Amino acid sequence: MIGVFDSGFGGLTILKEIRRRLPEYDYLYLGDNARTPYGTRSFDVVYEYTLQAVRYLFSHGCNLVVLACNTASAKALRSIQQNDLPCMSPMFSDGKPQKRVLGIIRPTVEAIGKLTRTGHVGVLATQGTVVSESYPIEIHKINTSVRVVQQACPMWVPIVENGEADSPGADYFVDKYLAEILAKDPEIDTLLLACTHYPLLRPKIEQSLRRLQPEGHSEVSLLSQGAIVAESLKDYLRRHPEIETQCGRGGKCSYLTTESEHKFAQSATIFMAEEIEVKHIDL
Ligand code: DGL
Repeated sequence: MIGVFDSGFGGLTILKEIRRRLPEYDYLYLGDNARTPYGTRSFDVVYEYTLQAVRYLFSHGCNLVVLACNTASAKALRSIQQNDLPCMSPMFSDGKPQKRVLGIIRPTVEAIGKLTRTGHVGVLATQGTVVSESYPIEIHKINTSVRVVQQACPMWVPIVENGEADSPGADYFVDKYLAEILAKDPEIDTLLLACTHYPLLRPKIEQSLRRLQPEGHSEVSLLSQGAIVAESLKDYLRRHPEIETQCGRGGKCSYLTTESEHKFAQSATIFMAEEIEVKHIDL
């Protein structure tokens, strides 16, 4: 089974695209809604919470876990892969772990360089992802000439988690952070939504860009990660048959939340456009 983890609802934007492309596998989604947001928490806390989630998913039938969360990918992925995985997973005869954890920053970075025309990219992300510098560092490993400007958007995740993504009140904070990043670099032509919650604000972000950009200004493209991560997972499974053959193929998807089952089901049913079964767990 493939585990998909996020601090809350954001990872659903990744899961939806993954299931669209890979419907045959079984999935277990875990949203740590009770402890969201992760973006304002310290490195140690994000690492600890993410490790608890990965352990849970491994012990409940997942052999592969996708951290569908940029903050967790930036702050916890490397430590888990290098230090924890060797103790948590049985090994194949070649010494490689039978269980794997994947992040979402690397595949995103590989896609982004191909999309910008001006070479000016804006990264909208949580405070934690911005401070980690993961995006500028990883983008520059591939292409040193891309100019990367970052903007933390600390109010966007609470807006989404509290079901306010469509409310008029959300407009203020959407305008605020977009105006700030566009003022930092007016030549930005590609804005990356580098937090998996942000695509849930996409209609507001598109409206705001139309308000903020002067007539005749060339259009800024908005880039979400769902399709990129899904294609990358597809490729990973193709290249790793030893992992792929362990993933169940019943086409089932179950959901876990650390918060209220009812609240999770209400929001997730609308977004996933299907009836979903949710179970509350404590990590
Ligand atoms: N959705 C997560 C991300 O992609 C984190 C949101 C949060 O909990 O702050 O960064």
